[in-house]
Amino acid sequence: MKILVIGGGGREHALAWKLAQSPGHSVFAAPGNPGIAKIGTCVPLRDGSPEGFLSLAEDIGAELTVVGPEAPLVAGVVDAFRARGRKIVGPDRAAAQLEGSKVFAKNFLLKSSIPTAEYVVVDNEADARRALDRFGFPVVLKADGLAAGKGVVVAHDRAEAEAALATLHGRLVIEEFLTGEEVSFIALCDGRDVLPLAPTQDHKAVFDGDAGPNTGGMGAYSDAAILTAAESREILDRVIYPTVEATGFTGFLYAGMMMTAAGPKVLEFNVRLGDPETQPLMHRMASDFVPALLAAAEGQLGSATLEWRAGPSVCVVLASGGYPGTYEVGRPIAGLDAAEALGATVFHAGTRQGRQGIETAGGRVLGVTAGADSLEDAIGCAYRAVREIRFEGMHYRGDIGRKGLERYNKKNVGT
Ligand code: AMP
Ligand code: GLY
Repeated sequence: MKILVIGGGGREHALAWKLAQSPGHSVFAAPGNPGIAKIGTCVPLRDGSPEGFLSLAEDIGAELTVVGPEAPLVAGVVDAFRARGRKIVGPDRAAAQLEGSKVFAKNFLLKSSIPTAEYVVVDNEADARRALDRFGFPVVLKADGLAAGKGVVVAHDRAEAEAALATLHGRLVIEEFLTGEEVSFIALCDGRDVLPLAPTQDHKAVFDGDAGPNTGGMGAYSDAAILTAAESREILDRVIYPTVEATGFTGFLYAGMMMTAAGPKVLEFNVRLGDPETQPLMHRMASDFVPALLAAAEGQLGSATLEWRAGPSVCVVLASGGYPGTYEVGRPIAGLDAAEALGATVFHAGTRQGRQGIETAGGRVLGVTAGADSLEDAIGCAYRAVREIRFEGMHYRGDIGRKGLERYNKKNVGT
């Protein structure tokens, strides 16, 4: 079977890498990246419209398409494929509003009695200021529409809130600041049945210790110990199933959860796999992923299962100098083979083929991913590989997975 992956970042490389291991299938990606080009066929994008992707899938003869990023989903790529009877994994345009509009998502959560932070929706600065008075500090301000991970500001005082109001325009959600552990809970859905993936934890802030502005994600790890069975059950029962029931959701439903003292609460919905969560997830998945994806696309998820390796996987993102602000591209990358020789898998995100070899082409450049029997060893393996890689301006967090380690030590997990 020919399988088309839409997208060209680290998430899509990890997905394509996993699918390429499935016997009897060939993987295509649009537009893909140099990492994907080693294991599959990259096809250039004609245009990023739903019809553009559909005609690409028809030309390739793709029997299954999996969508990576949110933009094509919000634009209606799934509706276009279904109208022509072509199998695709993702939500339709209506359900993609759960990610496409924060206001839609919050109103949906409230209406469905799904636990989330208290909030108000404001349309102008006067109302925004009144809301700030109501919530106090810290407070969270969120732009309504898609913002590539940059539309959310946690303001610790009035000055930060004022600065945020100067940059976030249009409709905003202003909400209560929640505290606790953040968990990315992702489930594959077919409109009725649900197949949860293993839990992951992202590291959104740019610097160690969660300091600095938010990014798309500076690293992630997957480990069964991130959630207890009871916590997973509660998220399924209180968040995932009610959402699938109310929306007929198909594809990957990603609930960004805060595990508060008062129980799990939804921070946000995404309607796709997380990036970089997908990198450790694909790395840890023991089963062939194709049967589950096909079952989801066919509305037959009921009997599908997934197995995971017992040990954790960790992904450290290597970013361009300046990211998440402005950065330069075209910097040659050294040490990719040496990193893989140490046992890591290096997923490409923002890279391109230059005249001298692989060079940088984006903010998040690579995701260095490793697994082991213990979280400590997985972290060690990933960072040994990271130290083999060099490009001008490269920066990364040195503490990916560390919070997990501290938490387990406290709970004496594994002793
Ligand atoms: P979002 O895109 O809504 O997930 O927000 C991005 C990040 O901002 C989240 O991953 C959290 O780290 C943080 N955040 C969002 N909403 C809240 C909240 N209500 N309380 C605390 N942190 C939040
Ligand atoms: N890593 C967070 C996201 O994919 O939105």
